[in-house]
Amino acid sequence: MSERPRPLVIAANWKMHKTAEDVGPFFQAFDREAPAPAGGIEVAFFPPFPLLSVVVGAVAHRADASTGGQDCHWEDEGPWTGEVSAPMIAATGAERVLIGHSERRLHFGETDERCRRKLRAALAAGLSPMLCVGETLEERDAGRARSVVLSQLSKAIDDLARAEYRRLSIAYEPVWAIGTGRTASPEDAQEMHEAIRGALASLATPELAAEIAVLYGGSVKPGNAADLLARPDVDGALVGGASLAPADFASILRAAHERPG
Ligand code: 13P
Repeated sequence: MSERPRPLVIAANWKMHKTAEDVGPFFQAFDREAPAPAGGIEVAFFPPFPLLSVVVGAVAHRADASTGGQDCHWEDEGPWTGEVSAPMIAATGAERVLIGHSERRLHFGETDERCRRKLRAALAAGLSPMLCVGETLEERDAGRARSVVLSQLSKAIDDLARAEYRRLSIAYEPVWAIGTGRTASPEDAQEMHEAIRGALASLATPELAAEIAVLYGGSVKPGNAADLLARPDVDGALVGGASLAPADFASILRAAHERPG
């Protein structure tokens, strides 16, 4: 295996699915099916907030696994009914948080400015943020996919410290591919991931850009994971629907373990 400067990350975004009683059976099945941990490959779980502590406990025995929140507020505490802050997530033992998922941008008014503030709150709380970026179908059809994605990126992560860039990961999720069964072709994904890495090199440095994992998300399944993961700048997958079934998610993780080179 050649030396990769960044990990491969296979991540489960459970969205608004599952309750505490589902967690035990999920991990019993996942542990049976999943490959044993190996260097350079990480698996991450983003369950709904009420399940964070349960999942933290359920993955504690896996050296390759981490847990994260699906969102956080930009303030540490205050009169924000219904919200959850980055320090609250960190206090559960979780290490990660998603920032700017397209469902939050679309349904909950998440702006680039909010993503920027949330990302900084996450870093200040010691979490590793995974920034989600992606264009809509209209934007892609208008030839604006790249400019939209790179603008979301630069608005959220310019001027971070070196050590902060090292805790960052990016998920490229074209909105038209989420939950639709339509996947970006491996070529389209590679092209955008390469553009993202180029932008990261300008925002940070080429060395730091080479260390940042850029995941693909949008209808990733056992049947298409290997092709996507074979592309040099596709450093993993952020999986929605197929992460709810332990055998499917384990199979996607296996594709990362079997990735050539
Ligand atoms: P699907 O895998 O269900 O398309 O969801 C992708 C996603 O939004 C992951 O964050």
